[in-house]
Amino acid sequence: MLFPRQEGKGTLRLLLCVLLLAAWKTGSGQVHYSVPEEAKHGTFVGRIAQDLGLELTELVPRLFRVASKGHGDLLEVNLQNGILFVNSRIDREELCGQNLECSIHLEVIVDKPLQVFHVVVEVKDINDNPPVFRAREQRFFIPESRLVDSRFPIEGAADEDIGTNALLTYTLSPSDYFSLDVQASDELSKSLSLELRKSLDREETPELHLLLTATDGGKPELEGTVQLLITVLDVNDNAPLFAQAGYRVHLLESTANGTLVTTLNASDVDEGVNGEIVFSFGSDVPLNIQKNFKIDSSSGEIRLIGRLDYEETKSYEIQVKAVDKGNPPMSNHCKVLVKVLDVNDNAPQLAITPLSLPVREDSPLGTVIAFVSVSDRDSGVYGQVTCSLMPPIPFKLVSTFKNYYSLVLDSALDRESVSNYDLLLTATDGGKPELTGTVQLLINVLDANDNAPKFDKSVYNIRLLENAPNGTLVIKLNASDADDGINKEIVYLFSDLVLDNVKSKFKIDSNSGEITVKGELDYEDCNLYEINIDAVDRSPFPLTGHCKVIVKLLDENDNTPEMAITSISLPVQENASVGAVIALISLSDRDSGLNGQVTCTLSPHVPFKLVSTFKNYYSLGAPKTDLMAFSPSHPPCLVVGDMSEQQDLNDEHCAKLFKV
Ligand SMILES: *[C@@H]1O[C@H](CO)[C@@H](O)[C@H](O)[C@H]1NC(C)=O
Ligand SMILES: *[C@@H]1O[C@H](CO)[C@@H](O)[C@H](O)[C@H]1NC(C)=O
Ligand SMILES: *[C@@H]1O[C@H](CO)[C@@H](O)[C@H](O)[C@H]1NC(C)=O
Ligand SMILES: *[C@@H]1O[C@H](CO)[C@@H](O)[C@H](O)[C@H]1NC(C)=O
Ligand SMILES: *[C@@H]1O[C@H](CO)[C@@H](O)[C@H](O)[C@H]1NC(C)=O
Repeated sequence: MLFPRQEGKGTLRLLLCVLLLAAWKTGSGQVHYSVPEEAKHGTFVGRIAQDLGLELTELVPRLFRVASKGHGDLLEVNLQNGILFVNSRIDREELCGQNLECSIHLEVIVDKPLQVFHVVVEVKDINDNPPVFRAREQRFFIPESRLVDSRFPIEGAADEDIGTNALLTYTLSPSDYFSLDVQASDELSKSLSLELRKSLDREETPELHLLLTATDGGKPELEGTVQLLITVLDVNDNAPLFAQAGYRVHLLESTANGTLVTTLNASDVDEGVNGEIVFSFGSDVPLNIQKNFKIDSSSGEIRLIGRLDYEETKSYEIQVKAVDKGNPPMSNHCKVLVKVLDVNDNAPQLAITPLSLPVREDSPLGTVIAFVSVSDRDSGVYGQVTCSLMPPIPFKLVSTFKNYYSLVLDSALDRESVSNYDLLLTATDGGKPELTGTVQLLINVLDANDNAPKFDKSVYNIRLLENAPNGTLVIKLNASDADDGINKEIVYLFSDLVLDNVKSKFKIDSNSGEITVKGELDYEDCNLYEINIDAVDRSPFPLTGHCKVIVKLLDENDNTPEMAITSISLPVQENASVGAVIALISLSDRDSGLNGQVTCTLSPHVPFKLVSTFKNYYSLGAPKTDLMAFSPSHPPCLVVGDMSEQQDLNDEHCAKLFKV
């Protein structure tokens, strides 16, 4: 491409051609002119008519004309003054190309007579063509790995001018990376190349724009430029770089499966596949990390795929790798530290070690019944356990050491009121909400012989007919004992207080508690028995209960009244005065009550008078009447009887009294 012509340069050319005018030759008989190319229309070339020896006046009559082979009307002659001048633009390069010699052949013809002259007009080169590069820009693709001193050929410029006007020198815009190397094979043809002066780094300078200027040797010089567009090609010379040196993540151990743990972020300044990053776990990642975590190779997302358990693993250190897809690939490492946070997910647990179970009811207060240990796999407050007991009585928990307790007897036991306790031990941790663990403990209370046998009454009053037959049941005693087992098995015995006379009359069945009659019972002999009974349990350390059976005998009318004559004066004097006491009589009946109330009657029609002097005492007195009339053939008779319903009579005394 040519530079557009400029007005300033045209003026310069005019000046130039004036100088050249003097150089025409005549030696060959030819007329020789020279004219610079690109001269303006009208530029003077030569006084052609004059130089050919023609008169100005004859030019027209002789039909002066100029012919030029193939070059049309570049030059013209003014027929008035015979001057050859430039008629239209002469471009040397168009006429002659790169030929060093360039001229226009003119044939000047005049008639009358016909004459032909040859005129040579040399066209002088002027520097009217700037150096021209074939394209406005030249592209280079250079891998950033190219070594310093490498060369990259550049296509040079061409200049249509000739000679020094076409003698090009090149300059390169300043650059740290490249310098221009020019190898001249000859004056006009030079081989150009860029020489790498400093290592390229695509990541720093992905592209370079240089300007190569070619300057010709003309005066004034012209120049042409070409843009050198250098694209630095990527080489996988950068490893992926993690955005953070390490990642710290805190996860609750309850974190749901699938939760995003973190997203790795790495970058690789290389281009294309060299900068494409593949994330992965390090090659020797332990199994428990592979089981619980998954990494997305392209997004760098690490997700949970398992279940975390703080109690099992408190933290994970995951080695991750970022590898680019370059060839060979480059890689980098990074650590992801996952701290697992405790959640109150473990309930406390209780363990009981029985020590004195079952517990004796007479155990002293403070007796340790069992050891209780509590545990909670959680940590911190989640693992701090308090222990409670239901019901709170009669045992208590005594803390002996952190998480160790003694179950201790706190108040007295009584098997007879509560024979077993269903305890519920509860361990509660400090979480919110809290978790609890419970354990049930059944405590049986062992009997101790702390209850004596007991009769429901202390005294039993029994009435019994005398003469009750052998074997008659007097009473069946029944004592009870609140204790258990042999402690409540009872043996009935006569107590030591029991007199022999009782033992001879009664017997007791030690097992059944039946008291039966053994001997004869005679009211008149003894009508009241006091039988002290012991009820003794069968414990090795027996206890005894007491009661008293009072047997009152009931009288039966088993005795006939008796009469006794305490004094008598017989025979009775005839002249015995009225009222004289003949006999004193006492009556008796061993029975009691009506059975023993005795009455005495005198047989009728006897002249005596029976007078009761006192209970059961009588005196027999003579009557007023004539005793003489008394006939001993009908002796008086005293009849004695008691007052029971079945009256018992004794009349055997009839004769006795008056044996006259
Ligand atoms: C990755 O890091 C780069 C630069 O450090 C930042 O611009 C970008 O937002 C990050 N991406 C993510 C997903 O965090
Ligand atoms: C977690 O979820 C994934 C996908 O849903 C499943 O394959 C895996 O078995 C789950 N893991 C557990 C511990 O439930
Ligand atoms: C003894 O008394 C107890 C209650 O005091 C009673 O349950 C039991 O049946 C009685 N035994 C006899 C033989 O009467
Ligand atoms: C009472 O009867 C028992 C047997 O039934 C007998 O062994 C005992 O000798 C009897 N006692 C008297 C005093 O008759
Ligand atoms: C009765 O007679 C006797 C002798 O015959 C005599 O001794 C007694 O004194 C008399 N008694 C009275 C009271 O007369």
